Amino acid sequence: GVPAALGGSLRVFKGTFIHSTDTSPLEILEPCILGVNGLGKIVFIETVDKEQELSEKWHFKRENIRELQPRAEFFIPGLIDTHIHASQYPNMGACMDLPLLEWLVKYTFPVEAKFKDLKFAEDTYSKVVRRTLRNGTTTACYFATIHTDSSLKLCEVVDRLGQRAFVGKVCMDLNELFPEYKELLSESVNETERFIAELAGREYPLVKPIVTPRFVLSCSAELMQRLGTFVTHNNLHIQSHISESRKEVEVVKKTFPTCKNYSDIYNRHGLLTDKTIMAHGVYLSDQELELFRKKGAAISHCPNSNFSLCSGLFDARNALNHKVIIGLGTDVSGGYSPSMLNAVRSAIDVTKILSLRSSNYEKLSYQEVFRLATLGGSKALGLDKLIGNFEVGKDFDAVLVKTNVPDSPFDVFPDDPQKDIFQKFLFLGDDRNMIEVYVAGRKVVPFLAP
Ligand code: GUN
Ligand code: FE
Repeated sequence: GVPAALGGSLRVFKGTFIHSTDTSPLEILEPCILGVNGLGKIVFIETVDKEQELSEKWHFKRENIRELQPRAEFFIPGLIDTHIHASQYPNMGACMDLPLLEWLVKYTFPVEAKFKDLKFAEDTYSKVVRRTLRNGTTTACYFATIHTDSSLKLCEVVDRLGQRAFVGKVCMDLNELFPEYKELLSESVNETERFIAELAGREYPLVKPIVTPRFVLSCSAELMQRLGTFVTHNNLHIQSHISESRKEVEVVKKTFPTCKNYSDIYNRHGLLTDKTIMAHGVYLSDQELELFRKKGAAISHCPNSNFSLCSGLFDARNALNHKVIIGLGTDVSGGYSPSMLNAVRSAIDVTKILSLRSSNYEKLSYQEVFRLATLGGSKALGLDKLIGNFEVGKDFDAVLVKTNVPDSPFDVFPDDPQKDIFQKFLFLGDDRNMIEVYVAGRKVVPFLAP
């Protein structure tokens, strides 16, 4: 066999790789040869003329190379969903007739309350993780519920099925309109600590905790302060919601009259750091975007949700111009689709609508939106040294796309350039085209576990 130092159980793929880099939103690497070592890391990616040289250095034989079908098959980096409520999965595709604050009370808190039942949690979380994985989501940043044991169940399911994830036990000590679903202040803090301690003890290599104050209106100032102190001492990741709907922003301002703006509230409580990811940010001012940049905090752009709850249109161009880190999120079930390809399409719709409103608006290209779904997401979650594209040293998180599957949702014609094939997949492709999904070099679709 191959010595471990040279990457024992090396796997080699040859064909087309499509990804983004800092300097280029879309690079089509064809034809290329990529090696993954036994630890799931990319150890080389080179043009095919280097094959002979590489096979001598890495001791692989030509017959062991996995050759992709030219044009019909290509690899993209695994998609990164930076904001998804695993616990809202039962409502996905329904309950889309109310604005945010009413939607939370009428539909969302009731469904989340059901996760007190561990069996329900296990069954539902298995569905979510399988659904997202088969749609190419190799990394997800999840909200669970206030229930610690069922949040740990989500971690267990993610680990068993081989996804990479951040998982947050939701913190909320205020809920006047649905008082059955909230915690005591002390409980929220203690259970967050227990969640993190128990997760650390389980040794799930790809599952990390994230501290999750639901949003300003669900948390007392003292809860935010205590969570802020806790994350500072323990250098933890943080996720929440910010500035999603006009009505919400209005109520938040009334609740914290001495704070300059929405971002200032999180910042004053120590919750706006370079490990923070905030969903939505539709109504953030330029001054707030500047604070995000300064703090290194990221925004999860959730366009389907922003349409579905009629929240608003997030101006990703303006945020990028302010050098704020942006990822894409499905925000299930504010968003009705668990698919990151759907998030890409919705984000393209948003940027086009914004361009209709002002004549010199610089739309995001589809290539830039693809970058948000991959490399952007990795930066937003602080994982860009590890994932996001096909660079040597990163983990091999990837989706093998096949265009000529039975009943493919799109057709490829002989004259189609590779770029158009990719674009057809982005706009029309679905899980039928995602024939294999890899996380840290491990093939997780077709599924590992029943
Ligand atoms: N703000 C507070 N909680 C939620 C939630 O569950 N979904 C969305 N979209 N916004 C929120
Ligand atoms: Fe959300």
